[in-house]
Amino acid sequence: MTSFPSVLESVDDLTNYQIIDLFTLAENIERDKVLLTPENSLKKPVIYTLFLEDSTRTKLSFATCAQRIGAHYLDFPIHTSSMNKGENLEETLLTLKAQGADIVIIRAKETKILQPFKKVPPIKIINGGDGTHEHPTQALLDFYLIRKIFGEDLSHLTIGIAGDIIHSRVAHSLMRLLPRFGVKIALFGPDHFIPENVQDSQTTIYQDKKTFLSNINLLYLLRIQLERHNDQRIENLPEFKKNYLRDFGFSLEEIKTEASPKLKVMHPGPVNVGLELDHALLKSDRYLGLKEVEVSMPIRMAILLEQLNNNDETIKNAKKIQFSLL
Ligand code: CP
Repeated sequence: MTSFPSVLESVDDLTNYQIIDLFTLAENIERDKVLLTPENSLKKPVIYTLFLEDSTRTKLSFATCAQRIGAHYLDFPIHTSSMNKGENLEETLLTLKAQGADIVIIRAKETKILQPFKKVPPIKIINGGDGTHEHPTQALLDFYLIRKIFGEDLSHLTIGIAGDIIHSRVAHSLMRLLPRFGVKIALFGPDHFIPENVQDSQTTIYQDKKTFLSNINLLYLLRIQLERHNDQRIENLPEFKKNYLRDFGFSLEEIKTEASPKLKVMHPGPVNVGLELDHALLKSDRYLGLKEVEVSMPIRMAILLEQLNNNDETIKNAKKIQFSLL
């Protein structure tokens, strides 16, 4: 059995078996069936967040999860740290390790910045989102929720992903993860928001909103990620934004008239009301955004526990949290 990766950079770092095991642990956490053994506070694992980009959900859920499993939690002070004097990420991570840290959850603007650490991890690392590349823990928690809704046999399921797909690290992780479990993907958005060469036997691109809506079992919305639009492909941004909800966003009214009566809507957040969705949809019972945040807790606790306990001998003095299933 492959051990849980010390650098969780991509959903590809986990086998399907590891993902199902992770979900079983998360379910046990949700049902209070996991017994954590309190440790001497000096031996408690130390978990850091090191976020080089803004975040509400990912950073604060990991912060709460770290505390709930009984670890010490610290947020790396980016703006007053020696990274401001030019210290690079590797030296920073080695310094934290030498001070006794065990896991660092990193969010970065740069794509694939964590890849060089996979061969010889300086410390255990979880990718909290790297540029436009991946956001594996968001995709895992979304998939956990999808399985709760639709069950284990997902071979007849089509998830519609709509919006700024090319700039979305969550979409990239979902598009790698979901087809591994038989899920089909439907994509919809402006042409320049759709990645090239993605159409295959499990992925279909739709040009027409109504046809897209009538062919999906669940809608996964994305915001326009203007902070990653380096290529200036939107010529008239105010005009584009003015028409976006009509052309590429979704209203509750449209969902009611064009989609299956059961169609639910997921969104990793943050949402931009009036662009990818309207206020009525956000406040309706179709919208599952806050449910995604809820399930992020057991999933991220399970990820922390699995990584702390992965017996990676290359990371010296790695601390563990003892846990057992009741
Ligand atoms: N889903 C997500 O990554 O949200 P934050 O940017 O608030 O962490």
